[in-house]
Formats: sequence, structure tokens, C-alpha cells
Amino acid sequence: MARICIDQFYDWKKQGHRWVCLTAYDAPTARVLESASVPMILVGDSLGNVILGHDSTVPVTMDDMVRHSAAVRRGAENTFVVCDMPFLAAQISDEDAIRNAGRLIQEGMADAVKIEGGGARVGTIRRIVDAGIPTMGHLGLTPQNATQLGGYKVQGNTPASAAQILKDARAIEESGAFALVLECVPTGLAEKIQGALSIPVIGIGAGLSVDAQVLVFHDLVGLSGEFKPRFVRRYADVEQVMKTAVEGFLADVSSGDFPGERESFVSKDGESAEMAPGA
Ligand code: KIV
Repeated sequence: MARICIDQFYDWKKQGHRWVCLTAYDAPTARVLESASVPMILVGDSLGNVILGHDSTVPVTMDDMVRHSAAVRRGAENTFVVCDMPFLAAQISDEDAIRNAGRLIQEGMADAVKIEGGGARVGTIRRIVDAGIPTMGHLGLTPQNATQLGGYKVQGNTPASAAQILKDARAIEESGAFALVLECVPTGLAEKIQGALSIPVIGIGAGLSVDAQVLVFHDLVGLSGEFKPRFVRRYADVEQVMKTAVEGFLADVSSGDFPGERESFVSKDGESAEMAPGA
């Protein structure tokens, strides 16, 4: 199977075919997503909240993103992988931004990078695209500057802020971005942006009119504790499945049922015991 490429997303936009993107931060999750035919994986800087236990994405570093992106690539060789530029990776200077984006591609083995923010990021996106790196924009609720935005709130609620997001979306498309994430905006605004752009629009809390839907994998499978924003639909309770498995192990150890004969090595003269069949 050949790796999915950007043209596929453009074709799907033309055909009106809806598709999904999910986050992953490690090889086993990436393997599950690829085996379920998810065409795009986002190594989001939500890594900070979801995996590293921070209360925001701000502490996430370039080294964190590189390491987790490479792990995802090792688990999903044929899926299109987009890696987030973490806080301040694209803000200091365009040169710094190109170098950081380059690391996510070269060391992190991602296919593309994503940058949060509107007007102020447009020139930087153009420079990164000119350097040959496919780049995705991200507008609406941009968690890296949630404090400036007044918290984790729906954006584009007033005519002025909606007009600004639409203007930024057009500018991001003109800068050469290949796609745009739209997070937590009213459905009417998302519909307007979808109609105004020829690049794919990927929504999270942006309603049904967009080309694709992205969710954080751990929210989807019920592995993010009590955190459940309105735009999430849970398809499993993996936290409960994991707890039941661990409780089963505890019970078997305390009753002496584990390890049994099957899980033990019985030495036979002159034969070396194998760890696993075929190992
Ligand atoms: O970091 C992330 O997971 C994201 C998605 C929520 C779009 O940016």
C-alpha cells in the first residue's frame, strides 16, 4: 500500500467525500488508526494535556514533538502524518520556524506541519511552504493562546470576530497552506469558510459542513477521565476496559493463579526455552 498523499484530500473535497483525522502520540495507537484506514493522523501538541499530564499545551517542546512524531511514523508507515508546531516554535523568527518545521519532517518523519494562528502567522506559513514543507493552518480556538482568547471558548461569536476568522482563513489559503483546522466556531461561520476556501477544511466543534472531522483519540475512546467537551462523542470506555484488565491481573496474582504452566518456562535438558513462539 502506498502512503496517502495530499492529492487524495483534494480529490475527496471535490467529490464531497467526508473523512476523518485522529490524534496519535505513539506507535501502537498509530498502528490501530492505520489498520482502521484513518487517512490522516495528527501528532497534536494536545500531547501536553493528554499524555504528559500538563494542564495546557504550552509546556510542550520541539523535542517532545519530534520524539512522538517519529514514534507515530514507526507505527503507521502509510498514513499521512501531520505534526503540530508547539508553542513558540513558529513565533520567534521565520528562520527559526523553517528550521523547526524541518526537524518535524526530517527527524519526526511527518509529512506536514500545523501552525496555530491567523494574520501574524501568514507570512511564516508562506516561508515554510516556500521551503518545501506542506503546512496546515489552525483557526478559531487556538489552545496555545487560550489565555489571550479568554479561555477555552467558542470563537467567532460576534460579527467582527467572525469576519476576522474568515479573513484569516482566506489569507492562510493564499499563503499556500494545504488545509485548515477550524476549532470551536459556530456552524454558520464554518459553512461560510468551507464555501470560501478551495483547500480542505477540517473541523473540531465546527459542525457538519466542513470536509473532515478531527478528534483527540483519547476523547473518542474514553481515555481522558472526566474531560468531555460538547463536541466529543465517546465510542468506547477504554479506561474501564483497562481497569478491569488490571484488576483481573491483581486477583490472579493474589490467588496464585498467575503465572500458570503456560506462562512459565520448564527447563528440559539441552533445550533452550523460547520467549515466544517464533522468537
Ligand atoms: O493538538 C491537537 O490535538 C489539535 C487538535 C485538537 C486539532 O490541534
